[in-house]
Amino acid sequence: MEVLLPKLPSPSYCRSITTRTTSRVRAGFRRLSYLHVRASTVNQEVAEPTLSSPSLGHTTRPHFPILHQEVNGSKLVYIDNAATSQKPAAVVKALQDYYEGYNSNVHRGIHYLSAKATDEYESARRKVAAFINASDSREIVFTRNATEAINLVAYSWGLSNLKQGDEIVLTVAEHHSAIVPWQLVAQKVGAVLKFVNLNQDEIPDIDKLKEVLSKKTKIVAVHHVSNVLASVLPIRDIAHWAHGVGAKVLVDACQSVPHMVVDVQNLDADFLVASSHKMCGPTGIGFLYGKMDLLSSMPPFLGGGEMISDVYLDHSTYAEPPSRFEAGTPAIGEAIGLGAAIDYLSGIGMQAIHEYEVELGTYLYERLLSVPNIRIYGPAPSKEVKRASLCSFNVDNLHPTDLATFLDQQHGVAIRSGHHCAQPLHRYLGVNASARASLYFYNTKEDVDNFIHALHDTVSFFNSFK
Ligand SMILES: Cc1ncc(COP(=O)(O)O)c(C=O)c1O
Repeated sequence: MEVLLPKLPSPSYCRSITTRTTSRVRAGFRRLSYLHVRASTVNQEVAEPTLSSPSLGHTTRPHFPILHQEVNGSKLVYIDNAATSQKPAAVVKALQDYYEGYNSNVHRGIHYLSAKATDEYESARRKVAAFINASDSREIVFTRNATEAINLVAYSWGLSNLKQGDEIVLTVAEHHSAIVPWQLVAQKVGAVLKFVNLNQDEIPDIDKLKEVLSKKTKIVAVHHVSNVLASVLPIRDIAHWAHGVGAKVLVDACQSVPHMVVDVQNLDADFLVASSHKMCGPTGIGFLYGKMDLLSSMPPFLGGGEMISDVYLDHSTYAEPPSRFEAGTPAIGEAIGLGAAIDYLSGIGMQAIHEYEVELGTYLYERLLSVPNIRIYGPAPSKEVKRASLCSFNVDNLHPTDLATFLDQQHGVAIRSGHHCAQPLHRYLGVNASARASLYFYNTKEDVDNFIHALHDTVSFFNSFK
């Protein structure tokens, strides 16, 4: 396949999506929504799965009750998975079993319910450890989400290891939750944030990253898979280079752990974070992986019950990790739900999920190129470049939020629009916002086809006002 690399947008193009699509067009859209008129026959062309060759998407869809509904009069096409994934019935059942059958606090009671809740909670920790190949389940700290896990490292490790003039290396493509905690800590200690730009293929420039590393570098905090560009960073190489100058590596694996085999020992990551809700698990739970010697050397992040060894009136001693970092009653049912999500994903196999998604993601990319005046961000897929199964894009002279609203209201297609918590990256790309379609293993080519039909219809609708 020959794919032309999209050009950077012209200044006029950038202006065109800094404000929403003109009010005349929006007024027409409102009228259309009100009357609930179909802009075309797209919805009558909705593709159905071919029963002869069931894909992973076709075989797993039945496990997700939420996908089988109509939204705004159309069959739901949920392709906002980079924001959050849907939950299989097995995960919902695990939550229900906990609340109906053995709801109790963990690590505190000696009664049956508490012992059972504690067993299941700790079993979930072991499942997370095995899933990412941590050598010891004590290397897994449950947090509220990936954001809290990054804050934990920034405040606990950062405040005790960073000093004036030390450097923290990031890329311009990091999620806000991987930038702001380091800004806050750097401001406190006088450390410096160094940002690596993109190369000409719109991938964070790892040659520049290698160049920027020095004895001043204390931590490299980078994503594994970009939630906007769909690019994948070579973490093992980055860790090797960082360790060569004595720096630590924190991997934001929010968009990789749900979609591929992630092996922390193979990557040689010092810290790695992810959120349960993006990997078929409940919201309100995420985790931090940290090498045991690092976690053991770190002071507490939050104080309270569970994280102490002994408390006196004037001081306290602290528990060993992971308890040291889990102050207060944790999200017990949610951790157990995450364990169920891991069982579910492992039952399918992460390699099978990854291979299916690479194929589906390439299909999405290729089909999107059929839309006139589209600009897809990130590298073009090729034999060498495997994109994640998401595409962020803009269509000339259309605001992505108008596009996403029309897709939802007229076609039942759920995509994301905005800056995807990556404002610096959007600024670098010369735009305020983009639309993003992101797939998961339960999506099918029919979902992609239906989205593309709907997108063509959306673009024609808005263009008809010009
Ligand atoms: C790459 C990346 N990092 C971090 C986050 C933050 O995840 P959470 O909001 O679950 O903490 C996200 C979520 O969108 C993400 O995509």
